[in-house]
This record gives sequence, structure tokens and C-alpha cells, in this order.
Amino acid sequence: MEGIRLLLVDDEEEFRGTIAKRLTLRGISPEQAASGEECLSVLEKMPMDVVVLDVKMPGMSGIEALHHIKEKYPKTEVILLTGHATTLDGVEGIKAGAFDYLSKPIELDHLIGKIKHAYDKIRREEEKLKEAEFREKMEQQMIATERLASLGTLAAGVAHEINNPLAIIKESAGWMKLILKKDECAEIPRKQDFDMALNKIEKGVERAKRITLQLLGFARKDDSVLAELNLKELADEAIRLVTREAANKDIEIVQEMDIPGNTIWSDPYQLRQVLINLLTNAIHATGSGGNITIKLEVIGEEVALSVQDTGQGIPKENLERIFEPFFSTKSPGEGTGLGLFVTRGIVEKLGGKIEVESRLGHGTSFCIKLPKYLEVKEGLAGRDHTDILNKIIKMG
Ligand SMILES: Nc1ncnc2c1ncn2[C@@H]1O[C@H](COP(=O)(O)OP(=O)(O)O)[C@@H](O)[C@H]1O
Ligand SMILES: [Mg+2]
Repeated sequence: MEGIRLLLVDDEEEFRGTIAKRLTLRGISPEQAASGEECLSVLEKMPMDVVVLDVKMPGMSGIEALHHIKEKYPKTEVILLTGHATTLDGVEGIKAGAFDYLSKPIELDHLIGKIKHAYDKIRREEEKLKEAEFREKMEQQMIATERLASLGTLAAGVAHEINNPLAIIKESAGWMKLILKKDECAEIPRKQDFDMALNKIEKGVERAKRITLQLLGFARKDDSVLAELNLKELADEAIRLVTREAANKDIEIVQEMDIPGNTIWSDPYQLRQVLINLLTNAIHATGSGGNITIKLEVIGEEVALSVQDTGQGIPKENLERIFEPFFSTKSPGEGTGLGLFVTRGIVEKLGGKIEVESRLGHGTSFCIKLPKYLEVKEGLAGRDHTDILNKIIKMG
């Protein structure tokens, strides 16, 4: 009963003092009050777990005090001390919410036993409450995850549908530009304005296309393709695609990938997108002359692939938000805020996880951990290929 907060209320000073002393010897040191009124004023200052309360007191009776306690501090348990053979008070007390009652003269062990029971009840209820809170939190998390998953499916669908009209707009704008260049249009008024407007349309389409491309990275599960892939080769390929952007800023990309066991079973297309997203972000964040290191480690049945930069770092308050869809610190022409959202979606879909470490002004490191052999779960490899792939994986 360590840490129990106990209040002993009795108008007979001698009785109260003796009980308090004997309880203290047994490891429970109670607060004391000499009346119902004092009991309530103590409770106002200090919350109590258990109140041992005499029923017969001048002024406010124990039963009255009990009513007040139960109304104001419903979690506090009350043990009543009734006069000799007056069980009627005890019964009335239980009805009013007392935990139990004891008749005077009381036996110390008996009293300690009842205090212990009351305290156990409080702790059980606290645990129940904590468990309920925990369960609610987990449920909310599940709902959030599910919502994200369905958002992904929806987003990929919308992106797909929007790509066609976007292509039409782009083509038509290009066609109009061509016509404007022809001799027959040489003299039309405000030709330059038309040209500028068409350029704006083309730029807008480019931006919308970038968004739909990112969203499509969120493609449905059964679009995944599993293959044996060499991570070094995958990194080479991804680096090649961003190399011009890096060279423009005089950024060197260093590879530390040449280790045995750099082959895994996973989805090459989606992993390539992950690497491109991480590399592009690193290039954006790094000043000219900086470095980006892409490194591979094998840890048991897992591979850890990290992209580390010497860039500006991420402020603490942003660290929790960078994986949210549409969170971006870049200008609308430069960022969509979907890169990391999609990246995390892919990594988790492939059975892995992504971690970030950052020091403001020094740099950032994103690390993805992936299983070497992705289990073929239902739907992941595509309905038609699951069986074949399962066989191949078993053979490997
Ligand atoms: N390597 C990095 N260094 C610093 N900040 C980063 C890095 N990678 C991502 N961020 C931050 O996270 C934000 C979200 O990234 P992302 O989802 O890829 O969207 P976007 O790149 O389109 O802004 C970025 O706008 C940037 O603020
Ligand atoms: Mg990005």
C-alpha cells in the first residue's frame, strides 16, 4: 500500500491519535481531521484515496460528510466507523456510497484489511481506465491508417482520371502555339499576350502532372511487381535520373553500396521512386558544393538503405509533419508535399519502415529498412502472378 493517501476522521482525539500511531508503525501514515467540516477542508487541499470516517461526531455527522465526499470526490473510497452495534448507520452509509463499515471498538488488522481492499479497488479502476484510454487511442490510430489507405486508392484513381484531360490540354496548347507561329498569324493583334497565356497553361499542366505522377506512386496494392533486384544497380539508375540536378548545384553523390548481399526481393519500380524522392529532397535541401551519401547495410534478414545529406536540416516542429500529404516548405512551383507521403506509403507497403534523423544546419538522413525477402501477401504481387512468384521465392 505504498503511497496510499489516507485520511482519518474522528472527534475523539485520543482514539484518533492511537490509531494513527499504530497505522504509522505499520507503514501507513494518515492525515487527521477532528470533524466532518475539517475533513472536507483537508480534502479540498489534498486529494485522498481512502477516508476512514467516524459516523457519530458533533456538528456535521459522518453520513453527511460521506454525501459531500461522494458528490465532490467520487474516486475517494470511504470506510465508516460506526458506534457499538449500530449497524443501521453502516447500512445507510453503504447506500450512500461508502466502501464498507466497521463497528467500534475496532481491531487494527481488520481496519488495515479494509483499507487495503478499498485501495485495491481504486487501483483496479485506474488500470481499467488506462486500458480503455489505450484501446481508444489504438482504435483511433487504426482508423487513421485505414483512412490513409483508402485515401491512397482514391488519390491514385483520381490521378489516373485526370491524366487524360491534362494530356488533351497540353496538346491543344502546343498546337495553338504552333499555329501562332505560322505566317498567316503574323499580323494578329495581341499575339504576344496569347503566347504568354499559352505558356502559362503549359506550366500549369506540368505542375498538375507532377502531382498526379506522385499520387500514382500510391498505386493500388495489386499493381506491385516483385522481382529479385540489385540495390546497387537500382541506386545507379536513380542517381542517373537526378544527376543533372545535382551537377547544377555542384553536389557530389557518393555511393557506399558495394557490399555482399545487396540483392533483395521487392518491387523495383516503386523502390526506384522512393530513391528518386529521397535524392531529390536531399538535392533541394543541400547548398552548392555539398555531399549526398547513399549507403547500404545488411542487418540479418533486413537491408538498411540510407540517404544522407549535408543540407539545411529539418526544424523539430516540422519533423512530425513531413510525412503528411501536401506538407511542403517549398514554393508551389517546386514542391507538391507528396514525395515523403508517397515514399512512406510505398516503404510500408513493401513491409519496411522509414526513419529520419536531422540536425538543423548540419544535414538530414533518411533510412529505409526493408525485409530481404518480401513475403507475398494476398494481392501484393497481383492476382495472376502470386502463385508463380511464390514458387520462385520458395526455389530461391
Ligand atoms: N533531406 C531533406 N532536408 C531538409 N528538409 C527536407 C528533406 N527532405 C524533406 N524535407 C522537408 O520535408 C518537406 C516535405 O517533403 P516532400 O514530401 O518530399 O515534399 P516536397 O519535396 O514536394 O516539398 C519538404 O518540403 C522539406 O521541408
Ligand atoms: Mg520532395
